[in-house]
Amino acid sequence: MSLNESSSMASAQISDQKSLLRIRGVSKAYGDTQILKGIDLDIYDGEFLTLLGPSGCGKTTLLRLIGGFEMPNAGSMELDGVDITSLPADKRPINTVFQQYALFPHMNVFDNIAYGLKLKKVPKDEIKVRVKEALQMVQLEHMMNRRPQDLSGGQQQRIAIARAVVNQPKMLLLDEPLSALDAKMRVQMQSELKRLQRELGITFVFVTHDQEEALSMSDRIAVMKAGVFQQIDTPIRIYESPANLFTANFIGETNLFKARVLEVNDQRIKVEVTEQKEGFNPIRDLPKPKFNVQVGQSINLLLRPEDIRVYYVNDGYEGLVGHVVDSAYKGSTLDSVIRLQSGNLVKTSEYFNEDDPNFNYKMGQEVRVDWVDGWEWILPDE
Ligand SMILES: Nc1ncnc2c1ncn2[C@@H]1O[C@H](COP(=O)(O)OP(=O)(O)OP(=O)(O)O)[C@@H](O)[C@H]1O
Ligand SMILES: [Mg+2]
Repeated sequence: MSLNESSSMASAQISDQKSLLRIRGVSKAYGDTQILKGIDLDIYDGEFLTLLGPSGCGKTTLLRLIGGFEMPNAGSMELDGVDITSLPADKRPINTVFQQYALFPHMNVFDNIAYGLKLKKVPKDEIKVRVKEALQMVQLEHMMNRRPQDLSGGQQQRIAIARAVVNQPKMLLLDEPLSALDAKMRVQMQSELKRLQRELGITFVFVTHDQEEALSMSDRIAVMKAGVFQQIDTPIRIYESPANLFTANFIGETNLFKARVLEVNDQRIKVEVTEQKEGFNPIRDLPKPKFNVQVGQSINLLLRPEDIRVYYVNDGYEGLVGHVVDSAYKGSTLDSVIRLQSGNLVKTSEYFNEDDPNFNYKMGQEVRVDWVDGWEWILPDE
């Protein structure tokens, strides 16, 4: 799909949702270090929201504030219209699965999961049923009587999830809850968590380092850098219409081509893609971006690897000239790296065509890279 065309697609489906948690102007500092800088965030009732950002950007800190394990230095939080800013953790209808899943070491698995229900004085018979259901969900019914120290890391992680889910909280905070699982169990737990979230209508705030997981599971993704949100949007808009270069580079594989604006018209702009020797640069006629563009301005054209087309250099086609420096067969795709004259390395991913005898590029082979006009996403230089 065209990057620019899709840019207005998804906004309508989220804007009319009811806000379960309203976070306004929340800041948090440890000593002199400002970790969160005036966070504004609405978390919608029943949504799956993922926090994504580099290590140390403040994801866990934000979860700890929402959970009530830390207090903000400034700002407010409202849950269902009630101010909870200074409410302690155990008074909030929110459960957390921590990054270091802290199970009670002296209790067996059953008692770990039953703990919250016992506190709430749920009848014994009901506790039994609910704990068993939770154990089934994480496929560990047979380990009910074990102690946490006799479980693997991945099993402990699943028990921690079961222990949080069993309370059926309004909101569940999950800090990298699947990181200790192997690939197969991870995929199973992803769909289990999605199913639970849909069936129980629990609002999930999820942290992961796995971008594919974020893109496939979330209703919205909040991209964070150094305690500031860069973009809060649907996965498709985050991927296809990133708000800035940070988001573009952080999510997925990205190709950025430098270009200079030659002409600005009503609906379109004319640019020179400045990746080759002077006089040999392609001129392109593109849809005008939303931001203000001026003649002479430097801009970036963003293209994902799957948007790039590769041609043999002698086929008479116009495009950017480069050399193949890497090419790997990935089953359904052929993924290559092409070095342009500017030194820019272009990543490409093409559907593998076994009928084409030339499809396996040789190292060093000269090729042209190109794309369909309108598939690029345009970002200003920063
Ligand atoms: N109790 C604390 N005292 C002082 N500094 C802290 C404390 N907790 C966190 N920090 C600092 O706050 C910053 C943000 O930490 P946080 O744990 O929120 O990051 P994160 O985004 O969750 O990172 P990761 O992806 O590695 O889990 C880090 O620089 C961290 O060192
Ligand atoms: Mg963290």
